[in-house]
Amino acid sequence: MTETGSTRRPMTPPAIRARKGGMPIVCLTAYTTPMAQLVDKHCDLVLVGDSVGMVLHGLPDTLGVTLDMMVLHGKAVRRGLNSALMVVDMPFGSYEASPEEAFRNAAHLMRETGAEAVKIEGGEQMAPTIRFLSQRSIPVVAHIGLTPQAVNAFGGYRVQGRGAEAEQVLRDAHAVAEAGAFAVVIEKVPEALARQITEDIAVPTIGIGASAACDGQILVVDDILGMFVDFQPKFVKRFAQLGNDAESAIAAYAEEVRVRSFPAPEHLFSDSNP
Ligand code: KIV
Repeated sequence: MTETGSTRRPMTPPAIRARKGGMPIVCLTAYTTPMAQLVDKHCDLVLVGDSVGMVLHGLPDTLGVTLDMMVLHGKAVRRGLNSALMVVDMPFGSYEASPEEAFRNAAHLMRETGAEAVKIEGGEQMAPTIRFLSQRSIPVVAHIGLTPQAVNAFGGYRVQGRGAEAEQVLRDAHAVAEAGAFAVVIEKVPEALARQITEDIAVPTIGIGASAACDGQILVVDDILGMFVDFQPKFVKRFAQLGNDAESAIAAYAEEVRVRSFPAPEHLFSDSNP
């Protein structure tokens, strides 16, 4: 039976790790307190993703996201979570230069936000950093396949690991798992490769555009809610159309203000009513 709502115990990195091959791990992003409160009831893991830059700040990609932005949104999410594990993304430029710098910035993020873990993009080349952090009490989620911070190096948000490229993604998966990551996000890779990685490595895989063969799934919460009318990657399913609903609500408000039917009598104050 699945634990829900107030019956759930707080999630920990070892508890997520122990879900390998078991009940699928449910993950979503959140960037604000109200959204964190909504997703907490249903998710095992909540990611304060650097996608916040594109989703809430209108940036063209995630490269402009700073540590300060992650701290601000991380603090907001912390206030909304009770039981889901909170993971914060390390933004571009905060971890690549050296394991020591990655440690300083990861510790800063965890201290300031109360997150239980950080996520780092990159495969084999980031394994020494993942090992350095993991051995110093910083639980790490790795992120391989399409790593959006490398969009310029990849030349776009292309599927990774097709054909001969599969070998490298497989090596990445082994390297980050062996370095101590307690879970691995796999983004936008062919189903067969995601399945092989999931069978091969000892820690849970969390797919985004990587098939139901993974041990869990993650998506950007605004995407599943249909907040963006003109944006829908193939791997996203919209479970609501809130962007359209919001637009209709705003249009109805504007019309009622213009014809003076809002505010109506029930919205008014007098000397006697409460
Ligand atoms: O920043 C993000 O939202 C991510 C995804 C894996 C959801 O990294």
